[in-house]
Parts: sequence; C-alpha cells; structure tokens
Amino acid sequence: MKILAIETSCDETAISLMTASGNLSQPKFKIEKSVIASQIETHRPFGGVVPNLAKREHLKNLPILFGQIFKNPKSKILNLKQILKAKNQKLKAIDLIAVTVGPGLEPCLWAGIEFAKNLYKKVKIKNKKLKLIGANHLEGHLYSFLLPQNTKSKKLKAKSLFPAVHLLVSGGHTILFLMKNLEAIKKLGETRDDAAGESFDKVARLLRLSYPGGPEIEKLAKKGNKEAINFPRPMINQKNYDFSFSGLKTAVLYHLRDNKNDRKEDVVASFQQAAIDVLIKKTLRAAEEFGARSIIISGGVAANKELRKQFKKAAGENYQVIVPDFKYCTDNADMIAAAAYLDHLRRKKYKLEAKGNLSI
Ligand code: KG4
Ligand code: ZN
Repeated sequence: MKILAIETSCDETAISLMTASGNLSQPKFKIEKSVIASQIETHRPFGGVVPNLAKREHLKNLPILFGQIFKNPKSKILNLKQILKAKNQKLKAIDLIAVTVGPGLEPCLWAGIEFAKNLYKKVKIKNKKLKLIGANHLEGHLYSFLLPQNTKSKKLKAKSLFPAVHLLVSGGHTILFLMKNLEAIKKLGETRDDAAGESFDKVARLLRLSYPGGPEIEKLAKKGNKEAINFPRPMINQKNYDFSFSGLKTAVLYHLRDNKNDRKEDVVASFQQAAIDVLIKKTLRAAEEFGARSIIISGGVAANKELRKQFKKAAGENYQVIVPDFKYCTDNADMIAAAAYLDHLRRKKYKLEAKGNLSI
C-alpha cells in the first residue's frame, strides 16, 4: 500500500511517501521519500511556537514540499497542476492520503487538512482507488519505533517486544502506556501540568537559551555537574503513573533568583537529571508491575542522549530498551504514515476535522 502522509500539527511541515506492507503483528515500512520544513528560525525570536505564524508557514511550505516529493528529477515540475498534467506515475500509485487531525494547534491542523482535502479531490479524478483518512499524532509517536532504523541494530520482532511499557515524552505530552501488542494500548498515566519537553523549553527560556530548549539544555548540561543542585523530583514516589513538571521548572526559577552566581551548566545538568530520574523511575516501576519485556521511548525528548543512556543502564538485562532513530523522535510525517497504515489495518477512522486535544 502506498501512503502519502501530511503532518502540520505544530511547527514542522512534513510530507512522507511510504510503501507499507505486512500485518498487525509484523508491519513493514519503506520510506520512498520524506521531506520536512522546520520553522525553528521563524519562532526562535518569540521563544516558542506562535500558532498563527506557524499556520502561515504551513500554508507556504505544503505546496513546496509536495513539489519536492513528486518532482521529476529531470524536470522542474513544481506545482500540483503541472504534476497532475504530467500524469505522474508516483501520484497515480497512491492508495491512501493521511493527514494529522490532532492533537496539536488547531489552525495548523486545519492547514494540513484543507491541503489534503484539496489534493484528494484533484488526484481522485485520475486515481479512483484513492482514499483520504485522518491520523492521530500521538499514534504516530507511538509507532515511530517501527520505522526503518539507520543503526544496524537487530531486527525488531514484534512478538518478543510485548508486553511493553511505552513512555511518550514530547513538547506537548508526557504519557505512559502499556502496549500488549500494536493494537491493545492502555494509558497508565500522564502529566498533570507541563509536558517534559515543555519544561526543558521553559527552563531554557529562564536561562535565555534559544528555542527549542531541549537540545540546548542537553548540550550545555554536558559541561555541568548533575549533582550540583538537588532539584525536586515531583511525584517520583507516588504509586501512580502520573507526572508533574511545572513545580520543577518553578524550583529552577527560584534557584536562579536566589543563586545568581551559579554556573548555568550546573543548573541545567541538575535540572535535566531531576527530569530524567522521574521519567526513569516511574517507567521502570510500570515495567515491573506489568511484567514488561521491553521499554519503548518516543517523542522529541527521547532524542536526548543522556536520557537514552540512563534508561539503558537502569533497564540493565531486565528489559530491552527501544528508541526510534533520532529523526523519528521529533515530529515527522513518516510516523504519521505508519499510524495511518495501522489504522487502516484495524479499520479505525478519524474524522477529517482538527481536534486540538485528541487523545488515544
Ligand atoms: O515530538 P516533538 O517534536 O513535538 C511535540 O509533539 O511536542 O517534541 C518537541 C519537544 C520540545 O519540547 C523540545 O525541546 C524537546 O522535544 N526536545 C528535547 C531534545 N530534542 C527535542 N528535549 C530534551 N533533549 C533533547 N535533545
Ligand atoms: Zn509530536
């Protein structure tokens, strides 16, 4: 099945053309072409994503990315009309267009949905089998570990993975799931206030580091002492699977106010360690309680090398730790194509309407 997936839920515009095959116990994905336009530079001066600017950028970027996906290497064909006229074979071969409908920023989601609807209408005339479906961004992150890995690590055998405990840590979400297989997914707990990535971004802003804060904090923390400051580890010992990160950010704020001469490096290293400790402790407790065989981590914060390293160390021989390639941690359209394929297999349908707070 050939899938064209479109992602515009936040500040990345992305389109992926993928061939998917296999069944729900062993899906296979081959990425034919994948393009992404990051808006980091647009939002950087504001220290965070500005929804209307993001929407404007999506509207501008979508046709350009689409042109890049279908461009004939020998010609300069760039717009949809020309691509359709040229009877582009790749376009005719598509079975499914999938577009993220939530969760995310609604003006941004609508930009993607309207583009997908318009595209569907035009391509359908020449390609009768074409279908259009909505996709869930969270499912995208949840299935991102199935995407082809760059690292020549062992092939994932779905059977030996489950049950798995899955920690989705991004800028918008911090959720712990139990996955009995690729279909049976249960939410165990989630953040009650800020997401982990959001706390990285907010702490970075307190220290005047640039946006997005996660990678900046990771870089600076390498030069710091993670034991310098004993920041709180909110909810670490509570016997539930919820998280809270806003108190940790506030603790950093007060610490900076009262200790103006502290090294930035030590502050960020200690903050990062407090966040990592909570994420690992709660995930491992869930893995133990539910007899997990593996721990899967996804979302932008899963790109943090220190987090990956410490997770692997803490899991030891007890659990296999699975992380997607770095490029699949932050937002991308490949994961949306994967989620759409699995939805298609289990006949799950999302309405073509933006839903900012869509859940699993
Ligand atoms: O998954 P993502 O691209 O978007 C959402 O769905 O939210 O995640 C973006 C978040 C941002 O908060 C960013 O600061 C964080 O992921 N992030 C990181 C790192 N790279 C990105 N946080 C910690 N360490 C990183 N290396
Ligand atoms: Zn995301």
